[in-house]
Amino acid sequence: MTAAQNSAVDGILNIEGITKEFNGVKVLDKVSFSIRRGEIMGLIGENGAGKSTLIKIITGIYPPSAGSLFLNGKQVHIPDYITAKGLGISMVPQEFNLINTLAVYENIFLGNEIRKKSGLLDKPAMRELAAKQLEALRMPVAVNELVSRLSVAEKQMVEISKALMLHSKLLIMDEPTTTLTGREVDTLFALMRDLKAQGVTMIFVSHKLGEIKAVCDRVTVLRDGKLISVDEIREVNEEDIARKMIGRMDFHQIFPPKTPRASDTVVLDVRDLSIKGILKNVSFSLRKGEILGFAGLVGSGRTETAEAVMGLRTADGGTVAIAGSGGVQIRRPADAVSRGLAYLSEDRQGKGIVQGFNVPQNITLISLKRYCRNMFIDKQAEGEKAAEYIRAFRIAAASQKMSLRYLSGGNQQKVYLSRWLDTKPSILILDEPTRGIDVNAKQEIYEFVHQLAEQGISCIVISSEMEEIIGLCSRVYVMREGAVAGCLEGGHINEEEIMFYATGIKGSHI
Ligand SMILES: Nc1ncnc2c1ncn2[C@@H]1O[C@H](COP(=O)(O)OP(=O)(O)OP(=O)(O)O)[C@@H](O)[C@H]1O
Ligand SMILES: [Mg+2]
Repeated sequence: MTAAQNSAVDGILNIEGITKEFNGVKVLDKVSFSIRRGEIMGLIGENGAGKSTLIKIITGIYPPSAGSLFLNGKQVHIPDYITAKGLGISMVPQEFNLINTLAVYENIFLGNEIRKKSGLLDKPAMRELAAKQLEALRMPVAVNELVSRLSVAEKQMVEISKALMLHSKLLIMDEPTTTLTGREVDTLFALMRDLKAQGVTMIFVSHKLGEIKAVCDRVTVLRDGKLISVDEIREVNEEDIARKMIGRMDFHQIFPPKTPRASDTVVLDVRDLSIKGILKNVSFSLRKGEILGFAGLVGSGRTETAEAVMGLRTADGGTVAIAGSGGVQIRRPADAVSRGLAYLSEDRQGKGIVQGFNVPQNITLISLKRYCRNMFIDKQAEGEKAAEYIRAFRIAAASQKMSLRYLSGGNQQKVYLSRWLDTKPSILILDEPTRGIDVNAKQEIYEFVHQLAEQGISCIVISSEMEEIIGLCSRVYVMREGAVAGCLEGGHINEEEIMFYATGIKGSHI
């Protein structure tokens, strides 16, 4: 008996022969497996493997092209999300579905409002219930706060809370941890274990093999829309899972060897950068061709520093000197771009890609001038350039004409990175560049950053992934509470020392 048949015995959900085509392109191909009642099933696969699409079929967002779903042994037809919710299935989507102009509690109850007998909204009841739930989930978010004012991690918490408010029997989470910090991930896992104890079944999508190992009972691997395997988690190690995902035997998560610092030329010199209540006298320098890391806890001021350098925030004090720019002040992002600076924001959805634009349009958004001939855009040149990036990063898009909204999350990130590379920067700031990127593509991006550095392009990598900072950077600034707590080099770049500075056990800080 195969694993899938075996689990069908007490399967809460049986997925049978699910196929999905978009415009003749098959993205899911006869996928069959079962989810056991009360388990946490990991779902993993490379960017574009079909994970989100499968989830959208289970939750009624897309109809399958073929195949069926059985819930508690009975075939079900799920034409929309409302039906899914009615059946006890809910999800935390990969790209958030919150309404920015509404308060937290209003979002949590959206489409599910509590009403008084008179039919009017019972706001106090909703507020109270939402507050109770957020507290029970150990999620420190105020119910009256507008969603637009929340951080990405807080928005995630609201999405989880919204899904849980429905008392679902099957909770599906599509990459819920990409925007969370280590501590928040621990809280989420504790919550998942609580829910499991209460009999909730979960599907958990993540690119982080360690997380899948830590929290799941079994793991399903998808590759190119096909089911590759369903395994008991104790029977596979992280490398086994990675190999199944990429379909090669030679997988090693390695970083290219670090190159000794090539140049002493300082290309960016920041002194005493300050923003009231946010940054305190941040000073650092970046050298030509160097890969410089910025580590620290979320909220330590790394993103704000980058935004101030790019002219996205106004600093109250300090100087930003760019080599060769003759001391010109950066007041707007356009000034920064014209001085050769590029900044890949951590907020891909909010500040990055344009959902309605296609792949070439997204890539040339900033560098468009280069593609203009006599007031017209040279579509051919634009398309050829896009094709280059699609090849270099193996961007999975059925065609260049596809709106970005139809690309998988990880592939959207690759397009966004391409856009900044196309500005031909001399200084590239990458804020959480591999968020939502699968292990294989990560390796490609790391190699690419090395190539850039070898060409003399200076890179700053802001990352909450310790491995990434340690494996990639030749020097690391650690920030804490809006200030630089320390700078590490060579053998000092290790987890322990970074944490020392990040948490304040070590280091001066004003
Ligand atoms: N509405 C759509 N129209 C056309 N193609 C689509 C649509 N939705 C998804 N696709 C395509 O289906 C494939 C699978 O996408 P999916 O979002 O399921 O991947 P994924 O496994 O979730 O990847 P990631 O890890 O990057 O989130 C991709 O090639 C994507 O471009
Ligand atoms: Mg996805």
